[in-house]
Amino acid sequence: MKIDIIGVGSLGLLLAGKLTQSGNEVRLWCRGIEQCRQLEEGGLNVSYEDDRDPISISGDRFASAPIEEFTDTYLREPSDWIILTVKQNTLHNALPEILSPLKAERVHIICFQNGIGHMEMLRDLLPKANLYAAVTTEAAKRKSLTEVIHAGAGEVWIGKWSVENGQAHIIHTDLQANYLIEVLTMAGFSAFLSNEVDTMIYRKLLINAVINPLTAIWRIPNGELLASEGRLQLMRELFREATMVYDACGVTYDEDGWDNILEVCRITAGNISSMLADVLASRTTEIRWINGSLIEMAERTGTSVPLHRWICQLVEGIKV
Ligand code: PAF
Repeated sequence: MKIDIIGVGSLGLLLAGKLTQSGNEVRLWCRGIEQCRQLEEGGLNVSYEDDRDPISISGDRFASAPIEEFTDTYLREPSDWIILTVKQNTLHNALPEILSPLKAERVHIICFQNGIGHMEMLRDLLPKANLYAAVTTEAAKRKSLTEVIHAGAGEVWIGKWSVENGQAHIIHTDLQANYLIEVLTMAGFSAFLSNEVDTMIYRKLLINAVINPLTAIWRIPNGELLASEGRLQLMRELFREATMVYDACGVTYDEDGWDNILEVCRITAGNISSMLADVLASRTTEIRWINGSLIEMAERTGTSVPLHRWICQLVEGIKV
């Protein structure tokens, strides 16, 4: 399968390594020329925290180029799937201009972002596209511009984003999506089609809205959130406000949603959240599309979310 991966962070590198290794033709679209150069010269590397052998892929087994060259290349030589693994910030600020020449194309795009709001943006930008949302629990830590550690095997859930009601759902006869699941499975991922990806997206949003900003502000790994009653109290309050918003918007969530968050902290105890990773690398965070989206939902329904407002301002104030 010919696959374009736009965004070569931890997840992009992980997907690229495994998909190339299993025989697919992968093109990587990077944000900086330096990353393209390093990938071309030194290839890419996926390693593990246990004693499994790393995957090393030489630079001649895949293509890499700056993101700005993507659309011209795609129009000359289309791929089967475009995988978007850029952060929300790039997706909203850089991709509209880059992708707009594809507005008449029936491209297949799959989005792996945390947070919400991007599917609607892409739907408006690319009305003919086949849009899919993915939710993953794979844990990947980037070591350098070309190296990633596969820190924990998770699952990948994929659903088609329907035009009618803005909800992700699966079409079982969707050959292209079935083919992608097959290809991901052959690459070693536990990948599934789901008719509940929208529910999963909101479940993940709840988890990210509690874990990510607090770990970013306190600069602690996820497991450290459980270390004191004071921390748990703030987490609980963020969770309570978020569920009030969900109730007001008619978004369903698991009865054991709070326990799920505690469980994620335990399972990913040693991990640096994606938001803390952004803060440590002086990158813009995804707070606007995580807690900021909850605030927008709260505004639409007249729900009061003072802690989410404060937390947004605190995180946004880290990078000036
Ligand atoms: O954004 C992240 O880092 C992850 O989604 C999660 C689940 C919080 C684990 O670190």
